[in-house]
Amino acid sequence: MSSASDFYSYDPASGHPLAHDPIKSFIAPRPIGWMSTVAADGTRNLAPFSFFTMLAASPALLGFASNGRSDSLANAEATGEFTWNLVPRELAEVMNETSAVVPPAVDEFELAGVDSLPSEVVRPDRVAASPVSIECVVTQIVPLLDRDGASAGSWFVIGQAVRVHVARATVRDGVYDITAANPVMRAGGPSAYYGLAADTRFDLRRPGM
Ligand SMILES: Cc1cc2nc3c(=O)[nH]c(=O)nc-3n(C[C@H](O)[C@H](O)[C@H](O)COP(=O)(O)O)c2cc1C
Repeated sequence: MSSASDFYSYDPASGHPLAHDPIKSFIAPRPIGWMSTVAADGTRNLAPFSFFTMLAASPALLGFASNGRSDSLANAEATGEFTWNLVPRELAEVMNETSAVVPPAVDEFELAGVDSLPSEVVRPDRVAASPVSIECVVTQIVPLLDRDGASAGSWFVIGQAVRVHVARATVRDGVYDITAANPVMRAGGPSAYYGLAADTRFDLRRPGM
């Protein structure tokens, strides 16, 4: 790939030249934010978001983008809290069930048969079988804009970690072992591609570190 004619070049705002829109596959695989929230009336909610990432380490900030007004967004706005849960391979199918578009009154923990544990600092429960969960307090909800300054119809919810739960089984000689946690990664694709972070692990030290 060395000349311009070797590429499809296009403005994604105007469509794409492929059989399937690849935009969600380029920046991939992405970790999944399996977000637990509660509504103001205490109704529990659980939903996956792959527009999700770690933003800062100290203080630890993490965020997810809601494309459209999801119940998770509404709950984060109303209560200022969320709990992130890691999705290990064995929970991928259950996680997928919690992405069903259902009315706000539906508790997706119950819908998908997900066992929970109470959080310690915030109200949203955590997923009992997740090897890692992080309780967060919302710090910002950023309405995303297009280049004309118009609403992009998406909101980026950022929270600060206030309590971390990491399964002892994922810690080897004092080091957290991603291979033991085995998180599922989302990679777009026409048939909903997933991958495993642990499959592709290799080590590369930064210069001078
Ligand atoms: C793996 C996966 C990743 C998803 N990522 C996102 C995302 O990043 N943003 C989004 O708005 N919806 C995403 N969805 C869809 C939401 O999970 C879905 O709309 C869900 O119904 C939202 O639930 P809620 O209204 O209870 O918050 C994803 C679904 C799956 C299965």
